[in-house]
Amino acid sequence: MSHPRHFLDIDRIPVETLRALIKRAIEVKRARKAGKPQATPLVGRTLTMVFDQPSTRTRVSFDVAMRHLGGHTMMLTGTEMQLGRGETVGDTARVLSRYIDIIMIRTLDHAMLYEMAENSSVPVINGMTKSSHPCQVMADLMTFEERKGSIAGKTIAWSGDSNNVLASWMHAAAQFGFAMRVATPPEFAPREALRAWVDKSRANIEFSNDPQWAVRGADCVITDTWVSMGDEQEAARRLNILHPYQVNAGLMALADNEAILMHCLPAHRGEEVTDEVLDGPQSAVWDEAENRLHIQKAILEWCLA
Ligand code: CP
Ligand code: NVA
Repeated sequence: MSHPRHFLDIDRIPVETLRALIKRAIEVKRARKAGKPQATPLVGRTLTMVFDQPSTRTRVSFDVAMRHLGGHTMMLTGTEMQLGRGETVGDTARVLSRYIDIIMIRTLDHAMLYEMAENSSVPVINGMTKSSHPCQVMADLMTFEERKGSIAGKTIAWSGDSNNVLASWMHAAAQFGFAMRVATPPEFAPREALRAWVDKSRANIEFSNDPQWAVRGADCVITDTWVSMGDEQEAARRLNILHPYQVNAGLMALADNEAILMHCLPAHRGEEVTDEVLDGPQSAVWDEAENRLHIQKAILEWCLA
């Protein structure tokens, strides 16, 4: 079998490649804004997107990215495929590889993503699992560097739940050499395996239950929903426990004066973040959403190079 270039997790890809992807995304974005003709290197190629969970940004930005690059897209949901009736992930990957050029998958099951990649002879992209969201964090890193220059040596604060987006940010901290201060309630702190990874990676990441400690003097404050996909059954308990971790004007005021706010969206206004902060001058969330389009073009080009 050939060895396709999968895009699965930020800690698995050399940092030089990650940097090149961000550089390329910034170039592509600038060229597009300047009205320059866009290269279409993916003419005749097809991206299949498999979604086991809902999506607005990931779905639309990958679809538009592929079309801008000259390719075609196809959207499938797990339930309408034989996958939903018990066909194995491996067999699905082998068959899809015979028709299409690249697969993007969103599934809660991280092991299933890796099983898909192991059995696919075409590249597989992680469109989010319960454990990570690397395309989102690549767009976030791009957004940070566009606004504030190199992220190396900066301090990034997280307040809220320990989830997939945080895990990919932690992978990025190890790769790009920035500090992270993570505040979560004890009930929703990073699990043992992720903490063991932090120790092994020697990333500069500290943990606490105190959001004020995390945010003080930080260059960027990040939060995300308190009820990620798959957590719906314990929503009420989560909202209650996570309430002290809300990013509001009071918390944001403790960060550096020039700090930016990031949130992958969708936001739950009035829960993890207030309207005042999300719509305020420090918010970078709309650029983050836009940058999904540009970084994913760079990722698609790299996977298919
Ligand atoms: N941020 C993000 O991945 O959004 P969607 O769930 O809408 O794709
Ligand atoms: N942490 C969120 C991200 C949504 C894009 C979730 O998993 O639902």
